[in-house]
Amino acid sequence: MLIFTTAAELRAYAEQARAAGRRLGLVPTMGALHEGHLQLVRAAAQACDEVIASVFVNPTQFNNPDDLRLYPRLPEQDAAALAPAGCTVLFMPTVSEVYPQPAVLRFDFGALEQVMEGAHRPGHFNGVATVVSKLFHLARPHVAYFGQKDFQQVAIVRQLIADLSFDLKLVVFPTVREVDGLAMSSRNARLSPAARAVAPLLYQVLQQAATQVRLGVPPAQVQQQALAALAQESAFIPEYIEVADAHSLQPITSYEAGRPVVLCVAAHLGGVRLIDNMVVE
Ligand code: PAF
Repeated sequence: MLIFTTAAELRAYAEQARAAGRRLGLVPTMGALHEGHLQLVRAAAQACDEVIASVFVNPTQFNNPDDLRLYPRLPEQDAAALAPAGCTVLFMPTVSEVYPQPAVLRFDFGALEQVMEGAHRPGHFNGVATVVSKLFHLARPHVAYFGQKDFQQVAIVRQLIADLSFDLKLVVFPTVREVDGLAMSSRNARLSPAARAVAPLLYQVLQQAATQVRLGVPPAQVQQQALAALAQESAFIPEYIEVADAHSLQPITSYEAGRPVVLCVAAHLGGVRLIDNMVVE
């Protein structure tokens, strides 16, 4: 596995590999890798000749300085996990390498970012779109791999690819969960044992809500009951629970046949912000 720290190295390598007819897969990450990330890398290794993984804690997508400061950073462990999963190129740049000067360009995704993560984390998707665009330009992937755990991010990246005509295929993999249902996340490492013990409630609440959606319980009632169920555990501070259209991500007031619904939740638990989601077809 090659390790590059400069944009020039990655750009030159990717260009050469493309010219040689090799198929490139990109797995963008912020490191502190877990099984969810590694499944993306393994899938990329199956489908591509080169797997480029990036490990970069992108400061421009953090709206909370403490969240950025405390975000887990495990570069050696990440590198050790990536090679056996089939990664051929690891891109680990510094902040000044990615942002030689502060980006001035601003992305506006309209209604898509005016809900949920976009509404609660001002500037978050601007930062995501900026860094993902840079990575697409540098790594020139034929295929880019993302996890469904960040449901709204996937919708934003899909829009980015369409609007800027990035010539690549987006592949999305289902959320990988711990045996007790907790969605794998790099932030889980920050949970205290007590917080970790109650964390699966987030998934249980989503499952209950999904059952209600299937039974046709009105969205407002599903939302209310899910919030009440989460409030049963006083350690949780819910930020939002939304019953939304799975394509537009806009909150819904009723169901329509053939329109999939997504349930999205964000909550704070012992100072750690967790998100999860579930699609109901
Ligand atoms: O999902 C993430 O880890 C990040 O948002 C991403 C896509 C790597 C951009 O920094």
